[in-house]
Amino acid sequence: MQTVRIARQGSVAVATIDNPPVNALGAALRRDLATAVTEVMADPEVEALVLAAAGRAFIAGADISEFGKPLAQPILPEVLDLIENAAKPVVAAIQGVALGGGLEVALACHGRVALPAAKLGLPEIKLGIIPGAGGTQRLPRLIGAAKAFPMMLSGEPVAAQKALDLGLVDRVVEGDLVAAAVALAQELAAKGRPRKTGEIAEKLTQADREAFEALAKDATAKSGDMPNAMALIEAVRGAFTLPLAEGLAHERALFARLVVDERSKALRHAFFAEREAAKVPGIDDSVKPRPIARAAVIGAGTMGGGIAMCFANAGIPVTLIETSQEQVEKGHARIRDTYGFSVKRGSMTEATREQRMALITPAVGIAAAAEADIVIEAAFEEMGVKREIFGALDKVAKPGAVLASNTSYLDLTEIAAATTRPADVLGMHFFSPANVMKLLEIVRPEGVAADVVATAIALGRRLGKVPVVVGNCFGFVGNRMLEQRTRAAERLLVAGALPHEVDAALTGFGFKMGPFAMSDLAGNDIGWRSRKSRGKTAAVADAICERGWFGQKTGRGYYLYPEGARAGQRDPEVEALIADVSAKEGVARRSFTSEEILARLLDPMVNEGARILEEGIAARSGDIDIVWLTGYNWPAWRGGPMHWAEAVGLDVIVRRLEEQAAESGDASLEPAPLLRRLAAEGKGFSALKAA
Ligand code: CAA
Repeated sequence: MQTVRIARQGSVAVATIDNPPVNALGAALRRDLATAVTEVMADPEVEALVLAAAGRAFIAGADISEFGKPLAQPILPEVLDLIENAAKPVVAAIQGVALGGGLEVALACHGRVALPAAKLGLPEIKLGIIPGAGGTQRLPRLIGAAKAFPMMLSGEPVAAQKALDLGLVDRVVEGDLVAAAVALAQELAAKGRPRKTGEIAEKLTQADREAFEALAKDATAKSGDMPNAMALIEAVRGAFTLPLAEGLAHERALFARLVVDERSKALRHAFFAEREAAKVPGIDDSVKPRPIARAAVIGAGTMGGGIAMCFANAGIPVTLIETSQEQVEKGHARIRDTYGFSVKRGSMTEATREQRMALITPAVGIAAAAEADIVIEAAFEEMGVKREIFGALDKVAKPGAVLASNTSYLDLTEIAAATTRPADVLGMHFFSPANVMKLLEIVRPEGVAADVVATAIALGRRLGKVPVVVGNCFGFVGNRMLEQRTRAAERLLVAGALPHEVDAALTGFGFKMGPFAMSDLAGNDIGWRSRKSRGKTAAVADAICERGWFGQKTGRGYYLYPEGARAGQRDPEVEALIADVSAKEGVARRSFTSEEILARLLDPMVNEGARILEEGIAARSGDIDIVWLTGYNWPAWRGGPMHWAEAVGLDVIVRRLEEQAAESGDASLEPAPLLRRLAAEGKGFSALKAA
């Protein structure tokens, strides 16, 4: 298929790129682009070329699915050389996004015109790489390194007007973009030989270099485990110290090294997994979501308040419901305070805060949910409470309203059965803090209507969430796997590890917090209550709670939190208590390396993930990864638990689980049949088709 078509507007040729869905620069487009440029330049009747695009994007960048494989000729830098060195001016007409390689195409052009809604950026950093087709060399030359570097370091695109202010585009036009690009092309042609971006030197001054080095120093201190921030600095520095051709070659060499790195592979996996998660079996475009104009949230606690904020942030009016005036006022005030932090930080204006607050109506009693198109219940986590609320809701909610529970564990079928309209009931599980965390687990009990699921997905997107549809089981995907990790952490304590060792292994892996610091922060009593309600025990965790050591809120938990201390300190009494439990259970304590601790924490999670796949609770292993990446701060560059397991090798995970099962006598650690089968076949989870 031809991906570029050429037309003429007077003396200017217009090459229109048309490679749906987003004009990614795959092999065919690179080839057609090179051919188009060569042909136009050889045509004596043409004095300039406009590069325009059909569809919603100018160019969304390199075709990410080609990364890590041998690239077909011509590679992008070669195409860009053709454009930049053309004897006649080439002007980019930018609508939609110009990202990554897409912006690099525009940078190699001699002029750039954009529509007001266009967005321009170099997001490569988010994929674990750096721009590989001249971005690090041409952008600093065009706008100065002190402005170019932050754009590449954040990966965030800029809007057209900002691009104009930066000097990244020459004109922003309303209306006929191509006509404006043709006009600029003619003006440039009248001036003779076009000026190459690579030849611009006036922005790369001593002052610019100093400003860039200061930013680079700051970035070095914050770059953590990602090698690409360092590579980016090195590449941009080359813009000051090397001639263009050498700078480009240097950038390409750094890019080539990063693109094969496991961390970049993991980030690319996450990119595609997130898009894949949007495709839900049984819910296609023919299933239309129900319209949502007004929402209600039942429960004004931390979760309910956070969910109400999500609605207000998306401009959807929401009623916040409690059982008493005092409770609802408290919840309402807490929301005002939370917005207040943003105002104080300067990320929100006072006027915006007032606008958002005006969208939240506090109310007492479930009858206030009568007008809502969707009701989200975020009350106490107990089946009796939930059933009572849903029974009452059934009587007041308008016909067709979606009734959702934010339960973290409970059976949605049982909740739905408290109503006369179970087809309208599903789970919408937000993650704390609800106004910040991206994940929305949409729990699909049997019997729920397809358009109700579609409504939850569409609403999730409107709220800026990443919706992942999961099946109905205890803890769904995320918490069900988390429980395995929690049990593993307890087992490690009894076997000989100490809380700070377990936590350090996990933070060393890239998590922000280990399981014990996390539990201390959330409150150890939460898990205790949940265990008691299910008749479960955990010797160390229970003993700590029996002493009232609930965590940070009580000044001690697994760690000590003396007045004013933000991080927990080791507690000799806790360590003695743990040793006591080991002795009582007849366990000879031994030490564990970080690698052993990690394997013991993560392998059981992967095992549970395999069971979740077997049972069809998650449609794909990528969905499980997205749950962990967006809801539990799994380190992005490790791609999620299932991706990680594949990188380790499923056969290795199986062997380690077998060892653990034999040592502990805990049958739940036996590898799941699916895990065994895939390991034996030498396959990964990603080989499975969507359930
Ligand atoms: N390569 C391959 N496929 C891509 C792609 C890319 N760069 N960008 C988007 N797609 C695909 C998506 O996978 C999706 O495919 P399916 O429909 O089959 O799932 C489809 O295009 C539509 O994407 P979205 O669902 O994300 O659509 P959207 O409208 O919400 O967003 C977008 C569009 C803003 C372009 C977004 O897709 C995006 O941010 N893409 C990635 C952009 C990027 O990172 N570009 C840099 C690439 S690296 C590079 O260019 C290196 C270099 O220097 C040479």
